[in-house]
Amino acid sequence: MPIQFDQLQAPLDLQSPAIRKRVAPILDFTQGFILEKHRRDFVANMLLRFKTTDLPGIRRALAAIQPPSVSQLLAEGSAIRASLDAGQQPDTLPPIVFAGLSAHGVQTLGLKFQGLPVAFREGFKRRLTSRPGRADTSVWQEPWASSPIDALIVIAASSASDLAQATAALRAQWQPLANVDVESGEVIRQPRTNPLERGTPIEHFGFADGTSQPEFFTGKDTRTAAWKSTFDPAMNLARVLVPEKLPVQVGDRFGSYLAYLRIEQHVDRFNAAATRLSTSACPMSKEQAGQIITGRSREGKQLIAPSRHVNDFSADQDPKGVKWPFASHTRKMNSREATESSIRILRRGIPYQVGKEKGLLFLSFQSSLQDQFEEIYFNWGDQPNHPQDETGSDPLIGRPLDTRLKFPSTCPGGIKIANLTTLRGGGYFYFPSITALQSLG
Ligand code: HEM
Repeated sequence: MPIQFDQLQAPLDLQSPAIRKRVAPILDFTQGFILEKHRRDFVANMLLRFKTTDLPGIRRALAAIQPPSVSQLLAEGSAIRASLDAGQQPDTLPPIVFAGLSAHGVQTLGLKFQGLPVAFREGFKRRLTSRPGRADTSVWQEPWASSPIDALIVIAASSASDLAQATAALRAQWQPLANVDVESGEVIRQPRTNPLERGTPIEHFGFADGTSQPEFFTGKDTRTAAWKSTFDPAMNLARVLVPEKLPVQVGDRFGSYLAYLRIEQHVDRFNAAATRLSTSACPMSKEQAGQIITGRSREGKQLIAPSRHVNDFSADQDPKGVKWPFASHTRKMNSREATESSIRILRRGIPYQVGKEKGLLFLSFQSSLQDQFEEIYFNWGDQPNHPQDETGSDPLIGRPLDTRLKFPSTCPGGIKIANLTTLRGGGYFYFPSITALQSLG
């Protein structure tokens, strides 16, 4: 029987043989990166613009890519945990590769694509520039600035040298077939507390990133009787997977849509904004000011319900935005109101640095670019009336507005915070099932 997502209780208990059997096609034939972390600190995102002289060659090269499945990444995670439990250093992970196509790439290859969603078809740039205050893309960098990108190959490795080797090999293979550009990222971490484990990943403003993610599988420490808030981290697979859109001979194959944004971070401006806020109408320490803009502590702790799990908090615990202001990045992005619980995304970003430019290669998977990513980025981040009237746009990524942001929300004053980041490019991609990718050849 085909997999019916609405009959699967989230999060899925993969210890149950019956459930594991039911979702086996998802675990074995979905590109692993969609549902599971790849646990490698070095990434090269290869952006391809196809040359149209050898389309069959391009299809064969795409079909030759062998991404690890969800099962394989879950197994790597279990092996790492087992090593750590035994007090041993985990084995080094080999380089891996994932791949997706833009709508332009799908069209260039002449592929049949079932039910092309309008956001994916139009692409990120067109969707962005049709929004208020977002028309100017003159600061976009190459290769995003000019011709559309056709495909994205994500290469992930455990060391810089492994990554350089894997990237060079793929570059050599692709250069006759496409114009190749590479955007590299590297995880930055807080200092380690346990010599065997790695420190918490942070972004360039210095805050733990990736703390709140939708949960698809049990085994996390969130399903305990101690859980108090109305916020449910679990998410149904239907919010991230879509039935395969490219031609495949078999059923029960799934893909996902990816939003990719290259966002430069201005660390000096973030620190200056925290300093201004610390001496504003409602003074606080500079450290508190940074936390309240972001919506979490540097270590990733929540600003309300402090003694509980880092994700055990919800909007009703601070209805006036006293400790967790409406204008904080995390409250703009996920206000934790019950009505908005289905609008979530799975973030897979990684920091980058090119010369003096620091930033985030923001990646998110979702089943609908329009209803999830665009709702969050445009309708929540950019809109001053979310999650409450007169909140202002998101302090980290929203479009510049005249509104004064209030930290806390009850503060009579408020300060203008804008342009802490600059969008340098971005695109939408479809990551097909492993089966569909391999059928391209
Ligand atoms: C340079 C740009 C950005 C920076 C520095 C940044 C930083 C952060 C940090 C520090 C957190 C808190 C830790 C966590 O829960 O993972 C966070 C959470 C989050 N961010 Fe961003 N972010 C950026 C861009 C974006 C964009 C473009 C989006 C979506 C359009 C986004 C959506 C979210 C969401 C959904 C959360 C989780 C909120 C929750 O569930 O509590 N972020 N971000």
